[in-house]
Amino acid sequence: MKRKKVLLSLICVAIFIIILILAFYNNLVIRNYVINTDKLDVNKVVRIVLITDLHSHIYGDNQTQIVSLIKRQNPDIIALAGDIADDGAPILGTKLFLEGLKGVAPIYYVTGNHEFWSNDIKNIKETIRKYNVKILENSYEQINVKGSNIFIAGVDDPDVVKYEKPDFDLQRVMNDSFSNLQDKPGFKILLAHRPELIETYKEYNFDLVLSGHSHGGQVRIPFILNGLWSPGQGWFPKYAGGMYKHGNLTHIVSRGVSFNPRLPRIFNPPEIVVIDIKGRPPY
Ligand SMILES: [Fe+2]
Repeated sequence: MKRKKVLLSLICVAIFIIILILAFYNNLVIRNYVINTDKLDVNKVVRIVLITDLHSHIYGDNQTQIVSLIKRQNPDIIALAGDIADDGAPILGTKLFLEGLKGVAPIYYVTGNHEFWSNDIKNIKETIRKYNVKILENSYEQINVKGSNIFIAGVDDPDVVKYEKPDFDLQRVMNDSFSNLQDKPGFKILLAHRPELIETYKEYNFDLVLSGHSHGGQVRIPFILNGLWSPGQGWFPKYAGGMYKHGNLTHIVSRGVSFNPRLPRIFNPPEIVVIDIKGRPPY
């Protein structure tokens, strides 16, 4: 009887330790999503790697860890959806990251709030441009990827209003910048840092919106709670991280690659998001 009790206690302790390890696991993970569309040729696949909220953190020697993981995904496009640089951490992490990604795939970037909070947005943008990264500032580009017609658009983080463009109004900017894109044939992607503004983004006929900012809601409980708190959304955020459907629009919210030892992520490891857009026949 005593032996049984000891064995049971040991099993409980072992389970507790496993749960703790899983809860505080903080290595980079790959998160995969698949989107099927009749806007690409049947069986064609375009792969996007989405990175958000790096906050200039350095993964491995000179960013080799995160860069090699991204390279291994063989992306056709790399999307950086804001808060890649930070208002507190030195920009070195961003420089090393972009240096490592040189030549891997075309890179597109939109601002996040922290880049504005740095009060140094001009220098940050200049630095980013030096690495041949296309900054999307309420603009879009038409690109051909493996024979498929793709539009990739990006909107400024709304905090631009306090630091760079005092007359910025999201709705008006979206109208001015993307109304003429709505009827153009092709797969349309929007990079927009803040997920909670989806009600505005979704008026413009995009097929895919890519966001970050929420940090996965910081604390998660698998199958029970998808995020405890996020900036801009507060407690129990609706768009903490994952894939959301709004009719024909798919919204993917990255939980980001942010890492802060003083603010642990629980059941919420930093993630590299890999999105495969696959061509299918029309219904
Ligand atoms: Fe943010």
